[in-house]
Amino acid sequence: MFSFLLAGGDFGTEFDIFGATENLDNFFQNKDIYNATSEDYSPVIRDRPDRRITVGTDWKQPLLDKAAELDFYDELHQHDNNQPLPFEDNRFKTVFSNSVYWVENVELHLDEIARVLADDGQGHLVLKNTNVRNFLNTLWNQWEDELGNEFIEMIDRGRSDHYAHLYTPEEWEEKLEAAGLDIVQQRATVTQAHSRMWDIGLRPISPYLIRMAYSMPKDQRVELKEDWIETWYKMLEPLCSPTWDYSDRPSPEIVYTVTPK
Ligand SMILES: C[S@@+](CC[C@H](N)C(=O)[O-])C[C@H]1O[C@@H](n2cnc3c(N)ncnc32)[C@H](O)[C@@H]1O
Repeated sequence: MFSFLLAGGDFGTEFDIFGATENLDNFFQNKDIYNATSEDYSPVIRDRPDRRITVGTDWKQPLLDKAAELDFYDELHQHDNNQPLPFEDNRFKTVFSNSVYWVENVELHLDEIARVLADDGQGHLVLKNTNVRNFLNTLWNQWEDELGNEFIEMIDRGRSDHYAHLYTPEEWEEKLEAAGLDIVQQRATVTQAHSRMWDIGLRPISPYLIRMAYSMPKDQRVELKEDWIETWYKMLEPLCSPTWDYSDRPSPEIVYTVTPK
């Protein structure tokens, strides 16, 4: 959905990803609440992007089923990125991934991305780095006595265990290099301030907000949502610059544009 929106697509206000969730009662047992489909899941498309994505992959079929509803991908493949990619050499002009850092066998996966890229192709890889842990590490190391571990666990919500492969920016650069990829550009996508807003903002109460919103009659939900959006725009738009932070801290997420050597 993010790619669809970034490519210029738009949805009607009555539609959002929260219409197909599961495990809302197990949010704090670290379940993926979005790995679900629903019979009434039907994106209300207001505008279509003027381009399409040739192939999309994920290892969770419900996520692919939801992506298929957008009619934005020519092909969708269920695939575990710990295995070689099921595509021929040099097939793609562009590869985008925001999930490389989830993959256990990350060296193989980067080699595979280099293999399927055309010689003049570009990869855009969003890589979280060890700075994403700074805040949680500070909480665990310096504030556990004061705040208690229940509080920190609720903010952490299993992520300290989940990020399979977090490296420093320098280590990522070495791995890209070792996979035969030249870095032609790199830029921060979010700052530590954005990470904090994500961690603390609405996330811990999101299961209850989703349940509350979806137990309302649809008209009332849409009306309330429009008010929310108006207020959030005013609150969040000034903070939207990818480099905005209230102090000088290294970015926890960088997008690298790479080409095969
Ligand atoms: C940060 S999310 C991005 C989801 C989607 N690309 C988007 O932008 O909305 C990370 C995704 O990586 C997928 N993932 C994690 N490990 C994977 C693996 N080994 N193989 C394939 N997909 C994986 C998860 O299922 C999840 O959908």
